[in-house]
Amino acid sequence: MPTIRLPGLIDPHVHLREPGGTHKEDFESGTRAALAGGITTVLAMPNTQPPLIDSVSLVLAEDAAARHAVCDYGLYLGASGENIYTAKGLAPRCVGLKFYLDATFGPLHLKDLGTLRAHFARWPADRPIACHAEERTLAAVLMCAWLEQRRVHICHVSRRDEIELIRDAKMRGVNVTCEVCPHHLFLSTEDIPFLGAGRSEVRPRLALKNDQAALWANLDVIDCIATDHAPHLPAEKDGPNPPPGFPGLETSLALMLTAVNRGRLALEDVVRRMYDHPLRIFGLPEQPDTWIEVDPDATWTVRGADLHSRSGWTPFEGWTLRGRVERVTLRGREVYRSGAFNVEPGAGRNVAPGTQSTGEIHP
Ligand code: NCD
Ligand code: ZN
Repeated sequence: MPTIRLPGLIDPHVHLREPGGTHKEDFESGTRAALAGGITTVLAMPNTQPPLIDSVSLVLAEDAAARHAVCDYGLYLGASGENIYTAKGLAPRCVGLKFYLDATFGPLHLKDLGTLRAHFARWPADRPIACHAEERTLAAVLMCAWLEQRRVHICHVSRRDEIELIRDAKMRGVNVTCEVCPHHLFLSTEDIPFLGAGRSEVRPRLALKNDQAALWANLDVIDCIATDHAPHLPAEKDGPNPPPGFPGLETSLALMLTAVNRGRLALEDVVRRMYDHPLRIFGLPEQPDTWIEVDPDATWTVRGADLHSRSGWTPFEGWTLRGRVERVTLRGREVYRSGAFNVEPGAGRNVAPGTQSTGEIHP
């Protein structure tokens, strides 16, 4: 079958676990998974160990990424009570400031409204803020963004009430963008018995069929498709305290292309949400010499054991998807072809504005 050429995709929400959780994933395994999934830029979340909240932790992650990543990447800074006055100085080295406002995996849970407002007032107006904000917390974030007259990006929207609130806020001129994850588009609480209790743990939780339908019905409100790739080992997911999160880098594009094949949306709708909008929202550099070639008709069956993520499992085990990544060209160089990589660790570049000129580590 003839392949189609698409821009290298941008995933604005990825957990790569380095430093501190490399038994689950590291910059190399995670960015290999990204390339295999057609994603050439990943924006990595700060809920690592230590969390990325200051210069010391940022250097640790910058250094690890510079040595190990095989696709391009950016790093988020985590908002905490400790970095209200220092975050701004680190902004050029980051792709955004991330707020964890609802409980989830990792140490970065910000609970009080005062800290939220203080960060919103200080973080540079032209740099992105991304929020994990569910239900009423979402209303609080939109209010803060409105008061500061600044833009805000809402992560992994999963419920009807939330997507409708964002739609209404957009209509009234609030400067808000949002992302939705493939797992909330393709799974619901009805899948929990088949996945098992531990394996279906994810934040935000899998929602009702009614919520899932609302996401599809409000596609025009959804700016980005983001994986929230959150790898944990099967033994951890099946254990007594299952951590929340699904791996997703290698299934995201194929799930969306399968939906295209079923007539649920157009190919352009997918490219806008997996390339154009993330590029614009996060102010990333255009990369005309980075692209992917996809066979839109090839079918394949998802097997956790075949995936490149260290987590080694997937909530889509056994699903037959349509659309396979055949080739990936990263800045003019073919780095992936028919399942084989031709790229060395460290080939990825940091896309944050203050790091681009050299591509090197900033102490
Ligand atoms: C994420 C993780 O494991 O880091 N888990 C998840 O369920 N999404 C944390 C997060 O994105 O909130
Ligand atoms: Zn996440």
